[in-house]
Amino acid sequence: MFVCMCYGVTDKDIKNAVEQDGVGNIRELRQQLDLGNQCGKCIQMAQQIIDSTIIDE
Ligand code: FES
Repeated sequence: MFVCMCYGVTDKDIKNAVEQDGVGNIRELRQQLDLGNQCGKCIQMAQQIIDSTIIDE
């Protein structure tokens, strides 16, 4: 599923960044992936995916 349409970032990309690179918040995610720099609509969903991935660990 695409989370960020502008940059083609998927929920899987975000989960991988959390699980493999230790990303814990949006700021860290944006250092890894281009997301949220265009329309910003994806930020809220990206945050939810980070949160739920951390809880699942
Ligand atoms: Fe992510 Fe537009 S959907 S910046």
